[in-house]
Amino acid sequence: MRRGLNSGCGKRMDLSSDLYDFPGPFEAVPAPYPYYYESKAFTRNGKLITIRPIKRDDAGRLLDFFDTLSRETIFFRFLTNLRSLPLDWVRRFTEIDYRQDVAMVALERADDDERIVGVCRVMRCADSDSGEIAVVVGDPWHDQGIGTTLLRRTLQICRELGFTKLWGLVSSRNEKVARMSEKLGFVKKTETHEDLFEVEIDLDEMP
Ligand SMILES: CC(C)(COP(=O)(O)OP(=O)(O)OC[C@H]1O[C@@H](n2cnc3c(N)ncnc32)[C@H](O)[C@@H]1OP(=O)(O)O)[C@@H](O)C(=O)NCCC(=O)NCCS
Repeated sequence: MRRGLNSGCGKRMDLSSDLYDFPGPFEAVPAPYPYYYESKAFTRNGKLITIRPIKRDDAGRLLDFFDTLSRETIFFRFLTNLRSLPLDWVRRFTEIDYRQDVAMVALERADDDERIVGVCRVMRCADSDSGEIAVVVGDPWHDQGIGTTLLRRTLQICRELGFTKLWGLVSSRNEKVARMSEKLGFVKKTETHEDLFEVEIDLDEMP
């Protein structure tokens, strides 16, 4: 089975099936929300954003965020054409085992609530210190430095959690991510498929 889609290492989501290939039940005692990973940052045009771990109650915000993604952004993130975010995925994306995986969201204030503007996730490969990373920023917020900030913060946290290696699958058409990942220290690996390549970072080598 090909790796990818950030659906869990080696577990590619089968879009033709109603039964997604998710791991079994979550830990009986959930890890507490790691509030100490919350931080603030400024976008390139001076807007204040919050960067924090995703929470269960972000499900609605995540669905609203998906509506801000263009078809190209969806394709680059999921490597498939997705019209909507299946509810099982929303649950899987928001109900995180904070001991194993990392899922950080960038949010801006919106009226009396917050609005998700970007997400960066790392799914740990079973029983290992490596994981698959994926990042996406909503189209209205592109080129404001949010993707870079989210990735940097996620890499720091992964290092604290003992990850040593992260990898991601990138479309060969995705020049932006090729440039951005290189800037952050990822190394481009050989093409894994005719239209995809893999990038990898060794966190022990990070400055
Ligand atoms: C990739 C993505 C997350 C970047 O988010 P962003 O907030 O727009 O990125 P930033 O503003 O931090 O810019 C990141 C870097 O991209 C590069 N970049 C920006 N625009 C570019 C362009 N048109 N062409 C090539 N490189 C470009 C630059 O290196 C830039 O950094 P710099 O301005 O400091 O030089 C966002 O474009 C996205 O969601 N894309 C679709 C999903 C995706 O491709 N995910 C990756 C695979 S999982």
